[in-house]
Amino acid sequence: MKGLILSGGKGTRLYPLTYTRAKQLIPVANKPILFRVIEAIRDAGIRDIGIVVGDTGDEIRQTVGRGGRWDINITYIEQPEPLGLAHAVKISRDFLGDDRFVMFLGDNVIQGGISPLIADFAHHGEWNSQIVLTRVKHPEQYGVAELEDDRVIRLIEKPREPKSDLALVGIYMFDHHIFEATDAIKPSARGELEITDAIQWLMDNGYVVYPYIHRGWWIDTGRPGDMLDANSLVLEELEPKIEGFVDRDSQVDSRVTVESGAEIVNSVIRGPTVIGENARIINSYVGPFTSIYHDVLIQNSEIERSIVLENSVIRDVPARVQDSLIGRNVELGRSPVKPTAFKLTLGDYSRIGLL
Ligand code: DAU
Repeated sequence: MKGLILSGGKGTRLYPLTYTRAKQLIPVANKPILFRVIEAIRDAGIRDIGIVVGDTGDEIRQTVGRGGRWDINITYIEQPEPLGLAHAVKISRDFLGDDRFVMFLGDNVIQGGISPLIADFAHHGEWNSQIVLTRVKHPEQYGVAELEDDRVIRLIEKPREPKSDLALVGIYMFDHHIFEATDAIKPSARGELEITDAIQWLMDNGYVVYPYIHRGWWIDTGRPGDMLDANSLVLEELEPKIEGFVDRDSQVDSRVTVESGAEIVNSVIRGPTVIGENARIINSYVGPFTSIYHDVLIQNSEIERSIVLENSVIRDVPARVQDSLIGRNVELGRSPVKPTAFKLTLGDYSRIGLL
């Protein structure tokens, strides 16, 4: 089997972070989401992975490379415009050939990996496709499946009035018949070749589409709140380790990871939390569900349930920072210069919640 990861698209819902970075490269618990997706596919025994890239292709290529570090082969497939998930499949035909494959959306995080699913699909040659479904509170935001007994009868992309609460998780398995479908369907009202329409075409033409209902958590990290949720869930599963330096005046509880080169000085760190390489936490409190990425400085401040990206500085902040997503090279602190006032330099689409 082969793997296909979709990492094109624009990520407008995560502005301003995604002005300057592919959304799939934003780290969750200090590891880019795309790396987590690659590892899930690799752990299922797949060695050939294609990554569909768009505008942010150069950055993805530079960060991910050719796959050597995971002992796999990565092929990049250019998608000039984000014309839909089924379009991404269509343009990957040369790479996929006649192999069965798993397609994974590059911004999804799922509990428990996908090895059993892949094994199931590999052993059932009679299935032309397997789709992964899960129960959600707001099905209208996803592709939605209607089942009759154990069979899928209909799939609709983001229906206004969903007939079930079973959303399509961004993991799909196909054999080569999917190319007949992607050739046959037409663009939807939003101008995209929808994968839901392609799978519906398979069903309407007598092919077997088998549903699997996922019961663990799953997060499509499209919005900042989802990102913080995904971060919390992944942190809870992280195996803690202390590789950096913790001084005697600090309290670091058992669910904290301190990566190499990091320093904790006169501070309290409550897990689950990860402190990245070469980060420094001085006279500060870092509360649960926080990911501090590499080379960050936190001094005389308190932070909880947040993500801070690389090279940022949080210093002398008078109130606790909470539920926040802080980008790269950000400086947050008191201004020594009068008048006493909020002095802000914020990127487009920034959001600040003051006391
Ligand atoms: O997350 C699950 C949902 O993903 C499903 O329930 C929906 O049925 C499915 O259509 C999809 O909906 P989204 O609106 O969330 O898809 P989004 O546009 O966010 O794209 C998902 C990923 O695929 C993202 O990493 C970008 C990439 N992509 C997207 C498009 C439209 C591409 O690589 N090429 C594209 O043309």
